[in-house]
Amino acid sequence: MALKVKTVYVCRECGAESPKWMGRCSQCGEWNTFVEEQVTVGPQKSQLAQPVITQATITPMPLASIQVSEIGRTSTANGELDRVLGGGIVPGALILIGGEPGIGKSTLVLQMALSIPDRKVLYVSGEESTQQIKIRAERLKSVSTDNCMVVSDTSIDRLQSHIEASKPDIIVIDSIQTMETERVESFQGSISQIKECTSMLMHIAKSTGLPIILIGHINKDGQIAGPKILEHMVDVVLQFEGDRNHMYRILRSIKNRFGSTNEIGIFEMLGDGLREVTNPSEMLLNEYSQSLSGVAVAAAMEGMRPFLIEVQALASTAAYGTPQRSATGFDVRRLNMLLAVLEKRAGFKLAAKDVFLNIAGGIKVADPAIDLAVAASILSSNADIAINNGICLAGEIGLSGEIRPVNRIEQRVGEAAKLGFKSIIIPKYGPRTNFKKFDIEVHQVCRLDEAFRLLFS
Ligand code: TYD
Ligand code: MG
Repeated sequence: MALKVKTVYVCRECGAESPKWMGRCSQCGEWNTFVEEQVTVGPQKSQLAQPVITQATITPMPLASIQVSEIGRTSTANGELDRVLGGGIVPGALILIGGEPGIGKSTLVLQMALSIPDRKVLYVSGEESTQQIKIRAERLKSVSTDNCMVVSDTSIDRLQSHIEASKPDIIVIDSIQTMETERVESFQGSISQIKECTSMLMHIAKSTGLPIILIGHINKDGQIAGPKILEHMVDVVLQFEGDRNHMYRILRSIKNRFGSTNEIGIFEMLGDGLREVTNPSEMLLNEYSQSLSGVAVAAAMEGMRPFLIEVQALASTAAYGTPQRSATGFDVRRLNMLLAVLEKRAGFKLAAKDVFLNIAGGIKVADPAIDLAVAASILSSNADIAINNGICLAGEIGLSGEIRPVNRIEQRVGEAAKLGFKSIIIPKYGPRTNFKKFDIEVHQVCRLDEAFRLLFS
């Protein structure tokens, strides 16, 4: 019998299927989540594979009687990756690493597979041939290649036999969107395929105790491609991000059942692989010797780590009617809000100015404490007066022009002092802290104009 193609509609959130489009999913109740998918209907339907793993008898038992063995985490021999994972890989964990194409996901994972000591890694690639993986591995000049088994395959149904053949300690799947199973009839990369493949991998991970690392593509909105439940099914979701034209990459933990989501890992992409960046402030403090107008330094935090980052602004008279506002590494809506506060609460005339903002190193900063440095850099550019390069700033700006307290102020001040800054401007209110122990002059301000008086007079 010939294969027939038919159209079904699948919910992006929960993976529910329907023969016709619906505005609201009847299973999860989300609106406007149905997408069209093609599935093939053919003879193999009758021979659908049996579930790979049959569940053992499961009986409820009192929580008190459950014995917990110490979870033996496996270190990945990569300090930054370990930090984001919460100290290493937990047995049976399903870890999803998402990121834009070309950002370095395959490089990160292959580098880990090659340098992890005494652990056999099975690297299943649906994207590259084994030769391509070999070429990449040679480029990485890694320590050992004996412990890394590679296979170029897209079938999850064959994974069991690859596991039996290679007896790995860790499995890598590059990428989940290229995998397929015969148990579902739709095409590779479709929501139902991704959902089914992930649930099969979850069963393998949980029943064998082997950790599985999945690489995931992201779509144009920056979400991991596939059903939203993909992120619910896995134990850890990491996002690898950065600007492809810059070298720095940040690995962020979005979800972690075995650790904190406050941690980030920082890497630099070099010709021979990713280098761990243990001192994040190096991203900014190069070639920074003379004061230029439009530049301010923020004492920011990413995760639990303080670092200093340069904010650059350019404010110039708008050539056309509507001024342009654009920002790299910073939220444009927040930039507009700060400009409105500067206009309304501090009396600076910026409504007819084009404003461009740039965060050094091509990284995105979401810490609200960089507000003060953003505002200072804009005013510095606008007035063409340089800010003394021994000063840095940390503070969130409120809608009425007040400087609001920020978290971990002591760490920020400590980092600025360590890097040789002469003074720091911080919010007046917040937890009582003694800054005497730091070799830095601390100015505490509660309004925008106080900060500007310190900077520009
Ligand atoms: P890759 O890991 O293939 O990205 P992804 O799997 O996320 O799509 O990495 C892609 C880029 O990284 C590629 O453009 C080349 C660059 N690269 C280096 O700069 N140095 C290296 O050592 C390697 C292996 C890649
Ligand atoms: Mg890749």
